[in-house]
Amino acid sequence: MKQFISVNDVNNIDALVQKALAYKANPFTDKSLGTNKRIGCLFLNPSMRTRLSTQIAAQNLGMEAIIFNVGNEGWMLEFEEEAIMSGTSVEHVKDAAPIFGKYFDILAIRTFPSLKNRDDDYSELYIKQFIKYSGIPVVSLESSTLHPLQSLTDIITITESFKEQRKPKIVLTWAPHVKPLPQCVANSFSQWVNAWGKADFVITHPEDYELSEEFTKGATITHNQNEALKDADFVYVKNWSTFTDYGKMYESDPNWMMTNKKLELTNNAKVMHCLPVRRNVELSDEILDGPNSIVTLEASNRVWAAQAVLAEILKGNE
Ligand code: CP
Repeated sequence: MKQFISVNDVNNIDALVQKALAYKANPFTDKSLGTNKRIGCLFLNPSMRTRLSTQIAAQNLGMEAIIFNVGNEGWMLEFEEEAIMSGTSVEHVKDAAPIFGKYFDILAIRTFPSLKNRDDDYSELYIKQFIKYSGIPVVSLESSTLHPLQSLTDIITITESFKEQRKPKIVLTWAPHVKPLPQCVANSFSQWVNAWGKADFVITHPEDYELSEEFTKGATITHNQNEALKDADFVYVKNWSTFTDYGKMYESDPNWMMTNKKLELTNNAKVMHCLPVRRNVELSDEILDGPNSIVTLEASNRVWAAQAVLAEILKGNE
């Protein structure tokens, strides 16, 4: 693997899932793979799970992880080519990224969308500039439009939780929130489930919350949440802001919150969420504290997803 930016960097999703599950069973089997190697993890935005799980994954492979919270500890980077840097940006990525390329063997980056200009966000300029100028493999720790380590984790979690000899029905449902959030997790989950091709996949959201077809193509889409939830085996709960009239939060109807009453429509579905979650806004306490929630399992699996990806890059596997 040369980089990990989206599902398009993965040749065989099931094989990568099995590698991750093998690390879950035996975390230290490749404990010398990363000896004398370093991963630099740059956070332009805050993180808890992604930061900690990537550090643990690197350590399990014998690799040193160096964290740089660029957002808090660094200065503003410039990403536009030919920019006249007379404003607030202090250093161009063209100057900074080659240095990271000398310090590290792998560069991992978390960026975030502005939610102001869709073309800018969907161009993925930040991560593309790091790829262009660092000269080393780049791993996305969440970008403007995608969150591939989360989505790989989600497929791992579904694979280990579903033992029946049939396709699971997976429902991605929009949930209310208090502020506009990126589309990254929903885009990425849709992209991975569609590429995986081993589920009946339904997306449900209120009108005006359509996601980009680039990621949802292949899924059944409905505005009727109750209809979508019927016989679901997995319900993935997530808020996202509007894609068409970009980055907005229209009225956030509380009736879209997942509750135990709605779970009755499902096939005793497991409930997933990438976390952090707004309790009793996105998901009720009764679900999060009840037997159907697998959010802790899901978050714990972030380690094995990161470990499988870092190992593939270290091994230089295609
Ligand atoms: N799910 C996720 O990416 O969590 P963090 O923002 O805490 O990394």
